[in-house]
Amino acid sequence: MAFTIAIAGKGGTGKTTIAAMFLNSIVANKLGSCLAIDADPNSNLADLLGIKSTVSVGALIDSIAKKPDLVPTGMSKAEFIELEIQKAVSEDAKFDLLAMGRPEGPGCYCYANNCLRDVVFKLINQYAFCIIDNEAGMEHLSRRTMRKADFFIVISDTTRVGMQSALRIRCLIDELEFKFKNIFLFLNKVRGRITLIPELANAKFDAVWNLPFDQEVLNLSVKGKPIINIKNSKLLKNIEEFRSKHGFRAS
Ligand SMILES: Nc1ncnc2c1ncn2[C@@H]1O[C@H](COP(=O)(O)OP(=O)(O)OP(=O)(O)O)[C@@H](O)[C@H]1O
Ligand SMILES: [Mg+2]
Repeated sequence: MAFTIAIAGKGGTGKTTIAAMFLNSIVANKLGSCLAIDADPNSNLADLLGIKSTVSVGALIDSIAKKPDLVPTGMSKAEFIELEIQKAVSEDAKFDLLAMGRPEGPGCYCYANNCLRDVVFKLINQYAFCIIDNEAGMEHLSRRTMRKADFFIVISDTTRVGMQSALRIRCLIDELEFKFKNIFLFLNKVRGRITLIPELANAKFDAVWNLPFDQEVLNLSVKGKPIINIKNSKLLKNIEEFRSKHGFRAS
């Protein structure tokens, strides 16, 4: 089973950056094969990782919906989708990436979503690690496209709205009865002392982890440069500390 780390939080809190940092850490320490899933339809994980993403799963589902005769005779739609998704994985020397995108066409995508869930679940388990960068907000949780995560990381920045969003996500996890093995609260872009809003301070997390504001990370973002090869960043060091404290390894 792949060790799965899923990241959620309000827009702009640092989900994609932290996903890239986890990937950095896994690659730099040669921990095992890794699949990065960009589950944000406005995807930019590929850019931060400095790789070209190929076709998105959403686009693929669209083209099958528009042209059902693409499915070869003798093959079920589900089998065809599975095959095509395997092809949609961008293979980099150090890790693979799957961009989920979102189907654009009208109509009901329940079938596609169900099928996707199964295929992606199967795909994830071909790797030692899987990092999922989710879209902002909570809709992805309600859609229940993600079944399990070893580490579910809720990210907030130091703002009140960021914390309120983190709290809502934490409550939704209980309401929807997700069984994530560990749920962490990450407070990102911390520059000094921070005070949590009381409801968040009382919420149930396995640990609360502070991540520093890192000017180098922001500079690269301003220039539109990837952060996958960043070496001596404060943020990466902090992720390494998190890893040594909470340890993650493929089973
Ligand atoms: N620890 C940090 N220090 C400095 N800048 C940071 C840090 N974490 C993230 N940033 C910056 O904050 C901005 C938003 O980060 P990012 O794109 O990772 O957020 P996101 O939560 O994925 O956003 P979205 O919801 O739009 O997908 C980027 O410019 C990024 O470089
Ligand atoms: Mg993002």
